[in-house]
Amino acid sequence: MFSLCFTSKESRSSTLFYYSFTAGGIHFIMLEGYVAYYKSNDQYKWLEKNLAKVDRIVTPWLVATWHPPWYSTYTAHYREAKCMKVAMEELLYEYGVILVFNCHEQQSSKVYNYKLKSYSPIHITVGDGGNREKMAIEHADEPGKCPKLSNASDKFMGRFCASNFTSGPAAGNFCWDQQPEYSAYRESSFRHGIFEVNIYLFYRNI
Ligand SMILES: *[C@@H]1O[C@H](CO)[C@@H](O)[C@H](O)[C@H]1NC(C)=O
Ligand SMILES: *[C@@H]1O[C@H](CO)[C@@H](O)[C@H](O)[C@H]1NC(C)=O
Repeated sequence: MFSLCFTSKESRSSTLFYYSFTAGGIHFIMLEGYVAYYKSNDQYKWLEKNLAKVDRIVTPWLVATWHPPWYSTYTAHYREAKCMKVAMEELLYEYGVILVFNCHEQQSSKVYNYKLKSYSPIHITVGDGGNREKMAIEHADEPGKCPKLSNASDKFMGRFCASNFTSGPAAGNFCWDQQPEYSAYRESSFRHGIFEVNIYLFYRNI
């Protein structure tokens, strides 16, 4: 299919950790949650430039992928990637990314900063096949299953971004007390996904 080295170079990335490629009307952006992603870091700067150059007539759709989910409601990894979310969500939202694929399991509604918003990406979190961490079953919104705030810190980047919600139904708390409205569907199972895009062209007789 695609040669990583080729797509990395072609998308002017200096690393294989993040790169982009274009296929069938879609511009795919591969990001890395375990490599520095703040505004001052190369990954962020690369993303900014990459998004700015997408020709939306040729590739109207933007799809992004990275490993740690921003919108998982499972106790395992709950809000662990909050720093990455804080750093990059606005940029992806501004450019109208329609779909995000992450690892672990969950499907969100169109969500931006935990709120439903019509032009926000849908986060599809799937990819637990063969995961040695075993299947995530407990939800952070079940009684007694909310992880401790300190456990949700961004361990890799050494910063701490997660905090209790300041507004909405979970205000004052770290977890919701029911399945959050942004969580459209969740199911604990080992699966893999195939992303198939059907593009229909309509011609008008002039
Ligand atoms: C916090 O993390 C540690 C180790 O990663 C784990 O043993 C512990 O159960 C976690 N505590 C909570 C409340 O999630
Ligand atoms: C944050 O929320 C947790 C419950 O999820 C609560 O125990 C804790 O007191 C809250 N912390 C603050 C500073 O409000």
